[in-house]
Amino acid sequence: MEIVFITTNKNKVKEITDLAAAEAKEITIEHLDYDYPELQLYEIESVARESANYIREKRAIKTPFFLEDSGLLIHALNGFPGPFSAFVFDTIGNEGILKLMADKRGEERKATFKTVVAFCESANTAPRLFVGTAEGKITERGRGAGGFGYDPIFEVEGKTFAERSPEEKNRLSHRGKAFRKLLDYLA
Ligand code: IMP
Repeated sequence: MEIVFITTNKNKVKEITDLAAAEAKEITIEHLDYDYPELQLYEIESVARESANYIREKRAIKTPFFLEDSGLLIHALNGFPGPFSAFVFDTIGNEGILKLMADKRGEERKATFKTVVAFCESANTAPRLFVGTAEGKITERGRGAGGFGYDPIFEVEGKTFAERSPEEKNRLSHRGKAFRKLLDYLA
């Protein structure tokens, strides 16, 4: 089975294709580098759903397809930056997040990374959503050279995602969990 993954993010493509190659040999991921307009909504689920609806209503893209939206939710900041994670990363970056967290200690540094995969079986079917979360904390400083985005400041089980191998990140990550739910559904 072939499914199209729509994203402009090469890091996401690598994570998803590695995972499919390791865990779902019968599925081929075809990457489509298509930059759809992303609505600024207050729920990551709504962003993923509405982006998929926009694409299927255009009827220009082969099905089945999926896309995903991800965000970092910092508990002490009431879920900020959440659905605005891309804008916040592009404006204040990891250093800005560390400054916002400067007076937070211990439990106050808890954060959740979340991915919502929106899968469309055909242009006529509403997107089906698969949610994956990783529970972790914001580090005191950036650590590690792997991964991308917030990976150097997001720690799970003692190591940041940037300190882990791609396989380890896929095993523990929000994206790995959400994508595995899609694979289970397809199976
Ligand atoms: P989006 O899903 O591409 O909108 O991602 C939102 C923001 O979170 C962007 O700045 C991404 O670089 C960042 N991001 C998404 N997924 C990850 C991840 O797995 N690790 C670290 N940062 C991520």
